[in-house]
Amino acid sequence: MTKDKVALVTGASRGIGAAIAIGLAKRGYDLALNDILLVQDDLENVATSIQETGQRVERFLADVSNKAAVECMAADVLNAFGQVDAIVNNAGILIAGEMDGLPETVWDAVMDVNAKGSFLVTQAFLPSMKARKYGRIVNIASIGGKHGAPEQAHYSASKAAVMGFSRVLAQEVGPLGITVNCVCPGIIFTDMGRVNLEDPQVRKAWQAKTAMARIGEPDDVVGPVAFLASDDAAFVTGQTLNVDGGIVFS
Ligand SMILES: NC(=O)c1ccc[n+]([C@@H]2O[C@H](COP(=O)([O-])OP(=O)(O)OC[C@H]3O[C@@H](n4cnc5c(N)ncnc54)[C@H](O)[C@@H]3O)[C@@H](O)[C@H]2O)c1
Repeated sequence: MTKDKVALVTGASRGIGAAIAIGLAKRGYDLALNDILLVQDDLENVATSIQETGQRVERFLADVSNKAAVECMAADVLNAFGQVDAIVNNAGILIAGEMDGLPETVWDAVMDVNAKGSFLVTQAFLPSMKARKYGRIVNIASIGGKHGAPEQAHYSASKAAVMGFSRVLAQEVGPLGITVNCVCPGIIFTDMGRVNLEDPQVRKAWQAKTAMARIGEPDDVVGPVAFLASDDAAFVTGQTLNVDGGIVFS
């Protein structure tokens, strides 16, 4: 059990982010939950589940791709909790579309939330982590950033960007006791995951490609994230961990 630690999870209203937030609370973290205004009701439900674990929980509505909103959120989180020990950059979007004809606005939207959002949130909390000489940053990338699938070139690029900046940041902040790692989920059954799973044929094909012969659930991602956020992973940094039931073997 972790004691007296605070974690921020972005995109925590549903899916993988909600599972991670509840999973970290069960492991003893107090939780700062972030999402965008649109899904406030869902965020309330996650907060209620966390309250039931006995841990403290606060909600912070902000669009992670908006620098001013993120800076405001960071100030509010630090004001409320005094510290943040672990950040889980989970907020993300997937808008499928073939590269040929992909609107520039779609490219920008996906890069803004997935790549720039993780960068902005991380940057906003770095000064406080550096001052305490402690921090755990876990970025939710994707096997899509290594492997990719048709109609997801922009999504793949955004997740590859997250892995790239994580490896460099790990080198910049390692001497200060801060670790930076990525978790790369495979095909996970969430609202976003449905893009890959709606067609039964496609779903079957993904199952067949997976060593464990099943589609993942949000809870499958929790343990690996909790490990990288914990002191057990104090000497693990700059890594990407595939949590995909065995699709990508590198
Ligand atoms: N589901 C999968 O198969 C899968 C696979 C690999 C990686 N991932 C990654 O895991 C993460 C979570 O995915 P999910 O499947 O739970 O998706 P989801 O769509 O169910 O949840 C994403 C959450 O992020 C929030 N969000 C979106 N834009 C935001 C913004 N600008 N600011 C703050 N919050 C925002 C949404 O409101 C939502 O609550 C994403 O980064 C995704 O790319 C998912």
